[in-house]
Amino acid sequence: MIKRIMWLVAMACLGLSLYTVVMARSDSIDEKVIFGGYADVYAGVERISYKDPNEVVEVEDDGLDWPDIDITLTQYSMVNADNLLASAYEPDLALDEDGKNAPIYGTRYQYFAAIAKPYLDKMLQDMEALGFTPYIASSYRTYSYQAQLFNTKAFGIFMEMGYTNRDYDEYGTEEGTEVYNAYQLAAERAKKYTAAPGASEHQLALAVDIWDRERQRIGTYSNMDENFRNWLEEHSCEYGFIQRYPSKKLLRTGWDEPWHYRYVGVEVATFIKEHDMCYEEFYKHYVPDFKD
Ligand code: DAL
Ligand code: ZN
Repeated sequence: MIKRIMWLVAMACLGLSLYTVVMARSDSIDEKVIFGGYADVYAGVERISYKDPNEVVEVEDDGLDWPDIDITLTQYSMVNADNLLASAYEPDLALDEDGKNAPIYGTRYQYFAAIAKPYLDKMLQDMEALGFTPYIASSYRTYSYQAQLFNTKAFGIFMEMGYTNRDYDEYGTEEGTEVYNAYQLAAERAKKYTAAPGASEHQLALAVDIWDRERQRIGTYSNMDENFRNWLEEHSCEYGFIQRYPSKKLLRTGWDEPWHYRYVGVEVATFIKEHDMCYEEFYKHYVPDFKD
């Protein structure tokens, strides 16, 4: 009798483990996440099937009341895959009375630029007062931290291509070898998922990833409360923030990130929102030979 019970328990455990493995695999392989709320905008593992009826949105430059600003100020810095920050670039972070880095409201170790932190803190406080549950998933990142994130991604892709740690140790840095070329290819592919070191405006300490604490499993539209997302899209400009990578500008910016907000100041943020621009479109007006 005891043997029979043990046998039944063992079978139940085996069944449960198999079920868990199959579910985990189907989650990572088949799950398609809807980004942006537009028809046909899907981002799965490869983030490939993007189609947006508004995809080419060229802004009419003439006739707009463009803000009178000095585009060379730090708060307007353009950072993207073609406009890299130097590894030595370090922002002026907000400090407390003791001269220590002052954490963003509601966090212990997330930091932000001195010029923008008061606006971010106020926005987070106002969101909480309205009953939202904002969660700062990422804010200031050093160049070396970005490099770490990027290398982890590139290495993961390299392994998926069938290479090993040992391959990398032996040939990964030896130019001309098959392994070297494979790693370069993996790094190129990684740029689709993680900004390369110097290419992330998180290094400016002016960008923040705001997730919904209640739904923080993954930062996708499908896991952000709709009112939460709408509130940010509508009101973040009042605090000087723009949604830096709107879905419908994916083909222009290379990213679709509903959670990533960038400080540019109230005047510019309001102008950009009113005219439905992405930052590249705005920036181009002030720097005519800017290539993006
Ligand atoms: N994921 C965005 C592009 C960044 O790291 O800046
Ligand atoms: Zn971000």
